[in-house]
Amino acid sequence: MTEKGLADVVAAQTRISDIDGKLGKLWYAGYSIDDLAENSTFEEVFFLLHNNRLPTPAELDELTEQMVDYRETTQFLTELMPTLAEQTSPMSMLRTGISAASAYDPDGWDNSPEAVYRKAIRITSLIPTLIAHYDRHRRDLPVVEPNQKLPHAANFLYMLSGEEPTQEAATGFDVLFILYADHTMNASTFTARVVASTLADIHSGVVAAIAALKGPLHGGANELAMRMLEEIGSPDRVERFVADLFARGEKIMGFGHRVYRTVDDPRATILKRLSKEMGELAGEPIWYEISEKVDEVVRRDKGLRPNVDFYAGSFLHYLGLATDLFTPVFAASRAAGWTAHIREQYADNRIIRPDSEYIGPRDRTYRPIEERTGEETPA
Ligand code: COA
Repeated sequence: MTEKGLADVVAAQTRISDIDGKLGKLWYAGYSIDDLAENSTFEEVFFLLHNNRLPTPAELDELTEQMVDYRETTQFLTELMPTLAEQTSPMSMLRTGISAASAYDPDGWDNSPEAVYRKAIRITSLIPTLIAHYDRHRRDLPVVEPNQKLPHAANFLYMLSGEEPTQEAATGFDVLFILYADHTMNASTFTARVVASTLADIHSGVVAAIAALKGPLHGGANELAMRMLEEIGSPDRVERFVADLFARGEKIMGFGHRVYRTVDDPRATILKRLSKEMGELAGEPIWYEISEKVDEVVRRDKGLRPNVDFYAGSFLHYLGLATDLFTPVFAASRAAGWTAHIREQYADNRIIRPDSEYIGPRDRTYRPIEERTGEETPA
């Protein structure tokens, strides 16, 4: 019997990313996340995850042009969006939106490697547009069409607010996109690979991944971390809040990780710095200060460390995003990793079909319905 939650089970071989949980290191195709966050862009990282090498200038130009072209949404989604904005949560909108986009992909049901790569670029390019249009609709504001001159992450902020972001906001958001882009065999990526392994189409794999990311134990944590900071309200209330939470036996959102158990998540270290900087620039350091205090108390009392989602909460708040858009932002970035993993799965596929261990009763006697008392239900 394997560990509950498939802990330590190697589910696939990959060239896309690697983690050393003991050293607190993350690499994309052999490049350290610190180097990429410092020097790279999301567009370049998308190319890296998909091609296992960094692009040449011409390759990056070509990809950037494609990503700009593919930001545009279709008439069907434009018409659907007011209803989605009124009736669904942002993650449900995204799940439906990507599913709907599959019907209008210019490559149709072509599953050739070239078509699947184009679809990967289209899906990743479109997600920010869907989120921004959804958010503008629900705020009764006119939608903002993509700005072709802006990079992927900066354009996302522009479509949300209608204003070109500051250099600091644009760069910081791009770094967050790099940090969230992939993370080995996390629950949503595994889900995407399972779906791909049946040879279902790439949109189905991404829709399933979005569904897996929706849960609070995975992508939902950044949003819940921010809501917790708001509930705490001030650094001097942290000790009491955390003590009460643990006394009730509840989990603290944005802390703990399956892989980083003894050292810090390298992404959290970078996001902590970004949150501090943006808090100072926004003249509203309080959310960072509460975060820092929570970090100190939880480490001291439980030995738990913040994961990527904890400081992402206050950082995204400083960028002016609505709290319920934090997980969709995670999806927008992780689409790069999901689609890369789906393509890797297609390239060397065997259907993912694990075994299970039966622990129920055996050799039972079938009784007609009128003789059953219901007491035979096993514990
Ligand atoms: N708050 C309180 N206790 C926590 C905790 C948290 N955030 N995360 C882990 N623990 C405790 C567990 O309850 C467990 O305690 P026990 O040994 O007394 O049962 C112990 O630490 C070990 O954790 P474990 O349950 O093995 O972690 P996991 O690998 O199964 O789960 C997470 C990893 C991320 C799902 C888990 O840490 C969690 O739920 N964190 C909060 C949600 C979150 O931030 N998710 C984003 C992940 S990037």
